[in-house]
Amino acid sequence: MVARVSTVAFQGIEGVPVDVQVMVAPGKVGMQIVGLPDKAVAESRERVQAALHASGLSLPAKKVTVNLAPADLPKEGSHFDLPIALGLMAALGAIPGDALVGYVVIGELNLDGTIAAVAGALPAAIGANGLGKGLICPADSGAEAAWAGSAIDILAPRSLIALANHFRGTQVLSRPEPAVRASAANMPDLADIKGQESAKRALEVAAAGNHNLLMVGPPGSGKSMLAARLPSILPPLSPTELLEVSMIHSIAGQLPGGKLSDRRPFRTPHHSATMAAMIGGGLRAKPGEASLAHNGVLFLDEFPEFTPQVLDALRQPLETAECIIARANHRVTYPAAIQLVAAMNPCRCGMAGEPGHSCARGPRCVSDYQGRISGPLMDRIDIRIDVPSVTAADLIRPAPAEPSAVVARRVARARDIQTDRFIAFGMPQVLSNARCSTAMIEKMAEPDAGGLQLLRDAAEKMKFSARGYHRVLKVARTLADLDEKATVGRIHLAEAISYRIAGERLTAAA
Ligand SMILES: Nc1ncnc2c1ncn2[C@@H]1O[C@H](COP(=O)(O)OP(=O)(O)OP(=O)(O)O)[C@@H](O)[C@H]1O
Ligand SMILES: [Mg+2]
Repeated sequence: MVARVSTVAFQGIEGVPVDVQVMVAPGKVGMQIVGLPDKAVAESRERVQAALHASGLSLPAKKVTVNLAPADLPKEGSHFDLPIALGLMAALGAIPGDALVGYVVIGELNLDGTIAAVAGALPAAIGANGLGKGLICPADSGAEAAWAGSAIDILAPRSLIALANHFRGTQVLSRPEPAVRASAANMPDLADIKGQESAKRALEVAAAGNHNLLMVGPPGSGKSMLAARLPSILPPLSPTELLEVSMIHSIAGQLPGGKLSDRRPFRTPHHSATMAAMIGGGLRAKPGEASLAHNGVLFLDEFPEFTPQVLDALRQPLETAECIIARANHRVTYPAAIQLVAAMNPCRCGMAGEPGHSCARGPRCVSDYQGRISGPLMDRIDIRIDVPSVTAADLIRPAPAEPSAVVARRVARARDIQTDRFIAFGMPQVLSNARCSTAMIEKMAEPDAGGLQLLRDAAEKMKFSARGYHRVLKVARTLADLDEKATVGRIHLAEAISYRIAGERLTAAA
């Protein structure tokens, strides 16, 4: 007799249905797993046998064959233990055969028969819901799976015995509750930053339109400090965005306690990050930092210190909002709609351009250092600003600074205006100016006569790329939204162009 249990294999952030078929038949004693398993799946055999033994069920002296269908789909991960074990238990009559029909099963087994947490409980639950089934998952993944909806039936047992008792009706499992991570109330606040008014303004504009931002300045001027305060002015995630973000974090096994938070992700990878860490992939395909920052911020501090290959690998996700990883026998895609924020010193000694300072290595100090950032990557950064050292007057007797909550309100207002406009244009899926298509932005950010003249002059003089031209329009649109103006004026374009010019100087130096 063949027992069947449904489970999933993860491809990107989707759970593809997999059928676990278990047959116990006379023949050579042993257990075999077939159907393109990777090493962790092949090792299931040992864990399943030990866990069943510890739960008081020993395997008969027969041949056990486990098939993971479809056979041509690669199976990665350790979450196949539980479906295999349950299939075996059903085949041996330890649990009623029909008990598992309405469930998708994922979970890893410990040798003592307890069930260990696995990554991907949320996408598995959403997949199961789509099939009209419930989910059996480890107790520690239950809170995460419960987010898939209140209608879905979720069993989250601690051990094989607890699950068997549930099916026998002797000890019924209760449904896990979704848990919320407390919004970090003590996030660093913009009010801590003395002076740096223009940098704060640029940060606000970047937050309002979801624009990429580069800060260039001498050591200790507060670049890292400014970036760390960006999350405190960004609007919270919408429910759809929250689900996408949580799916990715679930697949990466990065949802502590299954708790979800509506704060936007803020990822700060170290500059030693490898390609796999940044874009995703590795031995077992996992989302990288760019995907973990989906719908949020990827902050690259000490920008030129990253390896050029890793930086240039970001060019594609910055344009298409997804990371595509080619594997030997398949392709994996992870969403990566990121806002790139980067900080760097102008040169190796860090002081180029400071009044009264001359670099020991002359102009090469600047050109060598900045040359590590490729032109095409720089072209994708909408707002580039100089962050000079804080003046002594600002440090000693600072003017009162605006707290994050006030700035966040203006940002939220500008985002609402954008959302309403995109809905009016019949594109409700676009949420910010930076993510708007070029054809759309030309319609939405049509400048007035004065603005048009300024834009024409600047584009000619600065030799904007086509991308640069559209990005200037997008930033100008955001500036008009912050002003609550329907048309983009000369003043908005002037500011948008000034943000571009700082970078053109950088590219020229490189
Ligand atoms: N504008 C400021 N207001 C108040 N404190 C500041 C300001 N700028 C810098 N500081 C202080 O200086 C410290 C260093 O700032 P930060 O790390 O942000 O500098 P940085 O520009 O990132 O420098 P580096 O280029 O060396 O990374 C901060 O922890 C803070 O104490
Ligand atoms: Mg820093």
